[in-house]
Amino acid sequence: MTSRISCVSLVLISAASFYSGYISPLNDDLINTTPSTSCATLDESSPEVRQRIATRVDEELRRLSGPFIKKKQSQLKSTSDGEIFPKSASGVALGILRVSKAEFLRGFDFGVPNKHKPNENDIDALILYNNPSALPSEITLKNDATHGKLENGSRVIANASVSVALASCDTLNIIFLPLQNSPRNSFPECYVMMSDFESYHINRWMRVPNFATTPKKNDRVLNHSLPLRHVGRITLATKGVDELDVPVLWDDFDDRKKGFLFQHFDAVRTYLENVDSVLKDLKKLLHERKVVRSDNTVIVMTVNNGQSELLSNFICSARRRGLDIGSLLVFPTDIESKILADGLGVATYYDEKNFGRLPSAEAKIYGDPIFCQMMFAKILSVAYVSLLGHDILFQDVDIVWYKNPLDFFHNTTNKDLQQFDILFQHDGSAHLRYNPFSANSGFYYVRSNKRTQYLFTSFLYHGALVRKTKSHQHVLIQLLLEHTSMFGLKVKVFDKFETDMFPGGFHYHQNWDTMRAIIRGESNAYLIHMSWTENKVNKLLFLRQMGDWYVNDECIDNNFGQYVNGGTVTDGLVDQCCAMEPLFSCHYRDKPSIKPCPDAPLIDPKKKRNFWDVMS
Ligand SMILES: *[C@@H]1O[C@H](CO)[C@@H](O)[C@H](O)[C@H]1NC(C)=O
Ligand SMILES: *[C@@H]1O[C@H](CO)[C@@H](O)[C@H](O)[C@H]1NC(C)=O
Ligand SMILES: *[C@@H]1O[C@H](CO)[C@@H](O)[C@H](O)[C@H]1NC(C)=O
Ligand SMILES: *[C@@H]1O[C@H](CO)[C@@H](O)[C@H](O)[C@H]1NC(C)=O
Repeated sequence: MTSRISCVSLVLISAASFYSGYISPLNDDLINTTPSTSCATLDESSPEVRQRIATRVDEELRRLSGPFIKKKQSQLKSTSDGEIFPKSASGVALGILRVSKAEFLRGFDFGVPNKHKPNENDIDALILYNNPSALPSEITLKNDATHGKLENGSRVIANASVSVALASCDTLNIIFLPLQNSPRNSFPECYVMMSDFESYHINRWMRVPNFATTPKKNDRVLNHSLPLRHVGRITLATKGVDELDVPVLWDDFDDRKKGFLFQHFDAVRTYLENVDSVLKDLKKLLHERKVVRSDNTVIVMTVNNGQSELLSNFICSARRRGLDIGSLLVFPTDIESKILADGLGVATYYDEKNFGRLPSAEAKIYGDPIFCQMMFAKILSVAYVSLLGHDILFQDVDIVWYKNPLDFFHNTTNKDLQQFDILFQHDGSAHLRYNPFSANSGFYYVRSNKRTQYLFTSFLYHGALVRKTKSHQHVLIQLLLEHTSMFGLKVKVFDKFETDMFPGGFHYHQNWDTMRAIIRGESNAYLIHMSWTENKVNKLLFLRQMGDWYVNDECIDNNFGQYVNGGTVTDGLVDQCCAMEPLFSCHYRDKPSIKPCPDAPLIDPKKKRNFWDVMS
């Protein structure tokens, strides 16, 4: 207690001496040097002296003009009462204040991460007051809010601390606007607020042609000579695309083919016909294999044959590092990856009814059936375990643990964390379709409750949109937004700048400070997620040079067949497939590696950026 008080007074003292030290020499200077600025004694060609004169002239001008401007302002105030908002608009707002955005976000965590490193244009948030009783009670501040504050002769929007500014607000409506320095927002954007039946959605209008009657994307772009037109909220003005376009019943080009909506009907029909028996089987399996942790969590992953070595690597790396994956439940979408995961000793549930067969005739119609199947599996696997009432850690297969992240999510002393229903790794992408959460749907933790159960049930019903947008993440983020708004779902996305606990592709490819800390052993990272890398071969090479690859070559590309006998694994695959130590090798010198790779080629010859050149 004593030390805290002295700490505060110390700050006050140093601040006071700063001001006295600043003001007095200036005044002395003014008094003492004025007589001596005679031509005879000063060398005006000296830059130092010229600078002093220029400063002095500025000072004098400011001193003289200040009161003058102030007077004009106060006259203005006395004639029109000086209120910022006229009475006719006071239904929208009758006062306005500024608060620090950072201070605000510290007190109100919406789980929204920072889009960019804070910029000088984004320091403040604005607060509008709609009602006299919403204004801060303190009389000067109340007056500042309605009239503005005079500073150096100009009327400006006054600032206040968040707690004071919000003290009288009984409800708060928060609107996130685009950052002014983001590339998407280089065109002029305006905001209209009016009072009416209230709406908690923002409607967007743009100067674009009617997309329905303008087939070519190039003709759909923003055009200043067109009138404003109501558009979907994820319309990209610069590209002429609505990224949340509706799925249709029948194919646009061939009306004998089912469109995404009818395709999804078929999938949902199969799901609904079987959900009871699937849940029964799953419950039995979880019980028999003792998968559910004492804290009620199940780790859920889904995999197909094409990705199976990444799953093997997750399992091998966790086993060799002594991390507990006893609560892992894998949902393989084909028999080959089921055999592999069984052989590696983890619990699997092969949902044959939903994924067992995909007739090749239908495969042609569905376009990319493997992709759609995997997206659907990512939804179904989580929905099942959620319906059974367990907390879930969902992971893509391209993840390697350094520590067990469940220790973090189950830390009951971390009260801030316990208030959230669903917590995500930050994707790092600033793309509009992922805004405002930019959540990575490849690593997230779900607390079991009615809100998350309904979220994943809704997600299942939105499968047609997943097919249409070809993105699980895109649709999940839009649903997070809707459920946050409709049901008060609490979402948290761990900020990529503020925490190094859950690094992913953004960090591996762009944020090398985080990677250096991991390599030096100075990081808090629980894992690395090789997102932002489309190509599976590169994922493997990056993991190898990070010292995070543990799968022997003989177990890659399903070469584990030699250990399999008649559809079952003859012996544990862990001994055969999992290396005791990481299998390190160099591949690209311009990508992070735990050891220098000076002789490795560049993946991007244009940039010529050597990771280890900046390591020390
Ligand atoms: C007012 O003038 C002072 C002295 O020139 C300056 O330091 C300060 O930033 C000015 N304030 C504003 C709001 O412009
Ligand atoms: C208002 O802004 C000034 C300058 O940015 C800052 O020094 C001051 O602490 C702010 N006041 C409050 C109450 O936040
Ligand atoms: C913009 O719209 C006007 C009016 O419809 C049209 O004449 C013009 O060609 C358009 N410009 C572009 C670049 O599309
Ligand atoms: C648990 O949370 C507390 C409070 O936030 C923190 O001090 C502690 O380090 C955390 N422990 C783990 C294992 O994360």
